[in-house]
Amino acid sequence: MSNNLLAGKKGIITGALDENSIAWKTAIKAKEQGAQFILTNAPVAMRMGGIQELAKECNTEVIPADATSVEDITNLYTQSKEILGGNFDFILHSIGMSPNVRKGKPYHDLNYDWLQKTYDISAVSFHKMMQVADKMELMNEWGSIVGLSYIAAQRTYPFYNDMADAKALLESIARSYGYRFGKTKNVRVNTISQSPTPTTAGSGISGFDSFFNFAEKMSPLGNATAEECANYIIMMFSDFTRMVTMQNLFHDGGYSFTGISEEMIDQMK
Ligand SMILES: NC(=O)c1ccc[n+]([C@@H]2O[C@H](COP(=O)([O-])OP(=O)(O)OC[C@H]3O[C@@H](n4cnc5c(N)ncnc54)[C@H](O)[C@@H]3O)[C@@H](O)[C@H]2O)c1
Repeated sequence: MSNNLLAGKKGIITGALDENSIAWKTAIKAKEQGAQFILTNAPVAMRMGGIQELAKECNTEVIPADATSVEDITNLYTQSKEILGGNFDFILHSIGMSPNVRKGKPYHDLNYDWLQKTYDISAVSFHKMMQVADKMELMNEWGSIVGLSYIAAQRTYPFYNDMADAKALLESIARSYGYRFGKTKNVRVNTISQSPTPTTAGSGISGFDSFFNFAEKMSPLGNATAEECANYIIMMFSDFTRMVTMQNLFHDGGYSFTGISEEMIDQMK
């Protein structure tokens, strides 16, 4: 059902790899709500998922860009502005990857070159996407920028490895850039801290099924799905959230504020 919440809005959606991706669901909903946007992902991801199919469905184009490359981001924005015929009202940063996680290096034996990559891909790229948009003066007044985080930024989840530190950095960048963008452009910047979600990035974390089930039992509303996350992102891009900025917004069915649930007590008996 469409309420045209994003009618007339233009933007950039990163990170749609396959139909499980949070960004994929967001693109479909953004289209339903009347937005115009460009899809982008790392050049290597072009070969894997069906992003071209998604582009067809959304009547748009895909412009490959490695989010760690300022040059790629600049090119992405230049072309997008031309295709969309104007500046941006929203940007979704839906990007995460840790070579240490991927290659099974535990937190007490990190490869530091890979750690730099984790930070660059999963957090600093958020800064780069904002700094380039800022310098190119591409954000419209009252625009909205969203990144995706996980509660391992606040609490220790041993299996989440160096991604925990990357998420802490991502959330800090949202606050720091949110301040500047608020002052200069009335643009808001927030992160959404999402429940464990069965996607390529999520399932790549060791023990994913166990902590997915644990979170499901701990959350009074249960885990939030990728589709529900997409709905929240649409709301954050809409004009109904204009005064929300520099926040890390938990979208987790109540998990983050639950001490223990009855289901967990029963299980411990
Ligand atoms: N799945 C979960 O359990 C969960 C929970 C909380 C937060 N998140 C976050 O949500 C976001 C989206 O992940 P998802 O769960 O939809 O998984 P996903 O694997 O579908 O998406 C991750 C995306 O990052 C892209 N990417 C990786 N390196 C890149 C680079 N250098 N440049 C551009 N893009 C690059 C990938 O191609 C992929 O499309 C990530 O930030 C992730 O950490 C996921």
